[in-house]
Amino acid sequence: MTDTATAPLTFTVTRNLAAKSPAQRAEILENPGFGTNFTDHMVDICWSEHGGWHRPRVQPYGPISLDPAAAVLHYAQEIFEGIKAYRHADGSVHTFRPDRNAARMQASARRLALPELPTEYFVQSLRELIAVDGDWVPTAADQSLYLRPFMFAKEAFLGVRPAKKVAYYLIASPAGAYFKGGVKPVSIWLSENYARAGKGGTGAAKTGGNYASSLRPQAEAAEHGCDQVVFLDQDRNVEELGGMNVVFVYKDGRIVTPASDSILEGITRDSVLQLAEDRGHVVERRPVSLQEWRDGVASGDIVEVFACGTAAVVTPIGTLKGEGFEDVQPSGELALSLREELTDIQYGRREDRHGWLLRLDA
Ligand code: PLP
Ligand code: COI
Repeated sequence: MTDTATAPLTFTVTRNLAAKSPAQRAEILENPGFGTNFTDHMVDICWSEHGGWHRPRVQPYGPISLDPAAAVLHYAQEIFEGIKAYRHADGSVHTFRPDRNAARMQASARRLALPELPTEYFVQSLRELIAVDGDWVPTAADQSLYLRPFMFAKEAFLGVRPAKKVAYYLIASPAGAYFKGGVKPVSIWLSENYARAGKGGTGAAKTGGNYASSLRPQAEAAEHGCDQVVFLDQDRNVEELGGMNVVFVYKDGRIVTPASDSILEGITRDSVLQLAEDRGHVVERRPVSLQEWRDGVASGDIVEVFACGTAAVVTPIGTLKGEGFEDVQPSGELALSLREELTDIQYGRREDRHGWLLRLDA
């Protein structure tokens, strides 16, 4: 299906009679953490080969019933997205560049042989959920409602081919800082034993399998006292972290980030690099070898390294650790200043000059 659907879907709304009380919700929002609490409702839309997208619903949040032979449970035909809703000072609720997430989900769908959800339906699903669960968008500074759209093969069939029945869901989770301890430099473990993706693989798609294969290296990172893992490609070029892109800042003001067809094209990265370009920084998207990174830090050519993604926003990298070495990363001002500019836009504290925000509650 191409992105030409325009007729809005008509959602059936079933209210959750066991919805959390305002007091229970307030208690959760006091300390939301990341990804552990969920709102009262969820959205789902069915797809079938013959019927296309149909039966759009808003229903109480709860378990999904699946046939044990559902293809996703066997062959991992699944994709997802991550996007946030932000509360502005006037109470309104906005999201950030949803067209980009919709387009990336369509690209992931093509790679995983899933149907493409039209952008209009993607955006409508966000609006429908906010219409019932808008009170879950936190008011506290730097908190947001993390929205998790996902799609999977639900057809009960053990042959290996694209499923003819698919489900799209949207759930939401109030979110504070992704890393415990808030915004402080994180430590990164260099994975030498594992790769995240390969040429022609699924690295550029947001599919669960990429994250499943990152768990063992991520555990290795934790064993070495590190917060995240960084992956290299087969030529020892830097790819990305388990769930974030990497950006290098050079002494002369250049900003360099890995270009590769096996990493996820981050929307946070794209936005932050745009803001940096607006400030006059030259941005280079090209391969960056591990050697360039380590030499650059050692010589002082690289003056800052940071990670970025929807969940983590912009987070400075404080240390790169690997077998037999530990490079302390230089600390600078740019990452935090770009983080501030980006979040000011997202929370409506600064002009949205690129037209990145979309109001969801009106
Ligand atoms: N890379 C990976 C592997 C990710 O999971 C994410 C998070 O979504 C990103 C990069 C950053 O992407 P975005 O900024 O669109 O959230
Ligand atoms: C996101 O930032 O949206 C992600 O999907 C990353 C994940 C590690 C939570």
